[in-house]
Amino acid sequence: MLKELVKHLFPRLVREGDLRTTYTFCLGGLAFTSLLVLTVTGLLLLFYYSPAPQTAHASIQFLEASVWGGAYLRSLHRLSSHALLVLLALHTLRVVLTGAYRHPRQMNWIIGFALLGLGLFEAYTGYLLPMDQLALWATQTGMELLAILPGGSLLRAFLVPDGIGRGLSLLRFYALHIAILPLSMLALSFLHFYRVRKNKGLLPYL
Ligand code: HEM
Repeated sequence: MLKELVKHLFPRLVREGDLRTTYTFCLGGLAFTSLLVLTVTGLLLLFYYSPAPQTAHASIQFLEASVWGGAYLRSLHRLSSHALLVLLALHTLRVVLTGAYRHPRQMNWIIGFALLGLGLFEAYTGYLLPMDQLALWATQTGMELLAILPGGSLLRAFLVPDGIGRGLSLLRFYALHIAILPLSMLALSFLHFYRVRKNKGLLPYL
């Protein structure tokens, strides 16, 4: 299985027609590029961010005011997170409009849907990290909405065991945001690409 996955990620041949950008606008590829920019800028932000309620906001202020290129780095991270969500919405729309969710691509539709959910959750967990007023109130609103869903209060109790922005909840959002969710997204993306190849590329099927 692993050998097959690697073989499909780097195929010997790609049909010329599959590279026509007017068909897909490479929206999935652009979404993956945003994910890579997010990963690299996020890794650099880790050198300054401090995941504790008393120091988190101050560490962001220090990054913006005193670190060379710090404000630019933070803006790039934020901008690429917005780009990822917009591109994911457009990529999903393209898949729906071209009927690419149908047999034999239903498995990739499910994987894609999981990626969409993880992408939204990734953006939500990142929102709390700067620990400013906007972050606290937006996270509070999200948690209230979650609590009214079936099973939502259990998830809320796991994510926020001690109140929004307190030590343990900030640590949980941080662990999800910097490790668990991005690694899951990268792993699922490779599975997604593998399935595209397994389904013999994108064209012709319209
Ligand atoms: C981080 C998230 C995602 C990445 C990086 C990604 C990447 C890609 C790439 C590179 C392709 C090849 C064609 C193209 O560029 O359009 C593709 C195809 C596909 N994607 Fe995604 N995708 C993501 C999320 C999604 C979502 C949210 C859905 C739908 C719910 C989805 C469903 C599909 C399907 C069904 C195909 C096969 C389309 C075909 O064969 O024409 N993907 N994806």
